[in-house]
Amino acid sequence: MMTEKKVKVAPSILSADFSDMGSAIARMEQCGADLIHCDVMDGIFVPNITFGFKMIADIKKHTRLPLDVHLMIDRPERYVERFADAGADYITIHFEATQALIPTLEQIKKKGVRCGAVISPDTSTEVLKECFPLCDIVLLMSVYPGFGGQKFIENSLPRMKRLKQMRAELQANALLEIDGGVSESNAKALAEVGTDILVAGNTLFSSAHPEKIIREWHAL
Ligand code: DX5
Ligand code: ZN
Repeated sequence: MMTEKKVKVAPSILSADFSDMGSAIARMEQCGADLIHCDVMDGIFVPNITFGFKMIADIKKHTRLPLDVHLMIDRPERYVERFADAGADYITIHFEATQALIPTLEQIKKKGVRCGAVISPDTSTEVLKECFPLCDIVLLMSVYPGFGGQKFIENSLPRMKRLKQMRAELQANALLEIDGGVSESNAKALAEVGTDILVAGNTLFSSAHPEKIIREWHAL
């Protein structure tokens, strides 16, 4: 039987050259990435704007890796179906961005796409109790959403530990994902507290040898 890789690595294409996205993704795929993390920002929920459905549909043609679409948009319920149709394999939505978290997670699932909830650094982990069992992924932001290259917020480690405990208490199965400031100096600690998926933008895209970093993280 093949043993599952312990930690999965999801390069965040926010740090790629948007004018050369196809080759950036092909490179990360060759380097051993497990998922491609796509940050969608609307300039309202966060003070930055990235891309929408067309980019997801176009990226889909360039890779066989699952697309992990992180929606940093206000009221994502308006758009999740279109991201599903564009080819998202996972869609995660922010707790802070909607009054309809559970119905929107259900809407995503109904489209045959894996769903997840995200919390920003100032949001209590406890707000996720109700939706946890529905989620395929729970994403913890370890920086304030909006930009790549920020410094990891240290209390994300105990927060991740708490999410792992909640998963056990609730007998849930969601993968635990961390996003923001993930680097060679905190990856091991993150794996130790139970992180299943490491998202990394700046660390991987600014490295001359991302394959080496990904290999090391797979071995954590
Ligand atoms: C921030 C995004 C992240 C970002 C991470 O709002 O959600 O995915 O790209 O970038 P790094 O790894 O550079 O902090
Ligand atoms: Zn992200």
